[in-house]
Amino acid sequence: MLKLPGLIDPHVHLREPGATHKEDYDSGTSAALAGGFTIVLAMPNTKPPIFDSATLDLALNAAKQKARCDFGQYIGAGPYNADIAASLAGTAAGLKMYLDSTFGELRLDDMTLWMPHFQKYSKDYPLVAHSESRTMAAAILFAAIYDRPVHIAHISLKEEVLLIKAAKEKGIKVTCEVCPHHLFLSKDDIPSISHGHPGRGEVRPRLAMKEDVAALWENMDVIDCFATDHAPHTIEEKDSDNPPPGFPGLETALPLLLTAVGDGRLTIDDIMMKSYTNPQKIFNLPEQPETWVEVDENEAYEIKASEQFTRCGWTPFEGWKVKGRVRKVVLRGQTAFEDGKVLAKAGYGRNVRER
Ligand code: DOR
Ligand code: ZN
Repeated sequence: MLKLPGLIDPHVHLREPGATHKEDYDSGTSAALAGGFTIVLAMPNTKPPIFDSATLDLALNAAKQKARCDFGQYIGAGPYNADIAASLAGTAAGLKMYLDSTFGELRLDDMTLWMPHFQKYSKDYPLVAHSESRTMAAAILFAAIYDRPVHIAHISLKEEVLLIKAAKEKGIKVTCEVCPHHLFLSKDDIPSISHGHPGRGEVRPRLAMKEDVAALWENMDVIDCFATDHAPHTIEEKDSDNPPPGFPGLETALPLLLTAVGDGRLTIDDIMMKSYTNPQKIFNLPEQPETWVEVDENEAYEIKASEQFTRCGWTPFEGWKVKGRVRKVVLRGQTAFEDGKVLAKAGYGRNVRER
């Protein structure tokens, strides 16, 4: 039996408020525990988006009643909310800036709209950028100009990891995360994920070329964190004429990473650093006392959507053979998950920003 710290997923979409048929704080944090995560940080591209004190309260009140593991809730950067967002820095998980188009309404196309956010948001709390390719280069330039840390969400391309490497060598305060789906899947896998439904392969950033995937693995030392970007949409929505982008990931991340350890492509230390030590530091998160995860490293099984707690009802990794099963999660002294059952009550989860 392998014992790990409670893992941290700094990037999930729990769909609350507004789309609880896809997920909510209850089902999403149940999926988190089943996946070995004891802290999840939820993104603000909800309906309505989380962008001020009233909308932040909407999400936090739902979380307080329903969350089964600890949580934080991001606030989104909009065109006119830089002062308000900055005033909520100690309450929100961090500031999320959508600098490229994505799912939802939060978008900042013009760089003059980025400036007040970089100037005003507390340097003690994370500023996370959804920024791909050249937009990512611009976000790193902003970090240099405003001399503040920026965390780049879900990198997927060779050019991205190489530019982050170069920026780090220059002392620019940039960190980054990679998602399991960008490590284990490429464009070439879309047909086998799709089963004739092309919408199932849709995700932002898109699945990349094999060369990009290889570059992420080759530069694993540049990558600070693993993050799932758990983005549940129902199978009906994915198979519709207008499929929304996104993959669920909370329940498949650790088994996939442990399988890579078994294959000699990663070490347990990589998982500890990128899913615990680094995110705790980068996202300024509290220690969780008496918290750990027990994993049966040798249990081999097939990933099945039908066994998951997420409400979305599918996974791009259906049928994959993995090795490493979460047996038990202890959160702040209580058994929160054991042998396939979530034992933590709704409302047991705490806001990581509550003092
Ligand atoms: O694939 C994605 N889905 N990428 C995003 O940036 C948003 C996410 C979602 O909320 O569904
Ligand atoms: Zn996301």
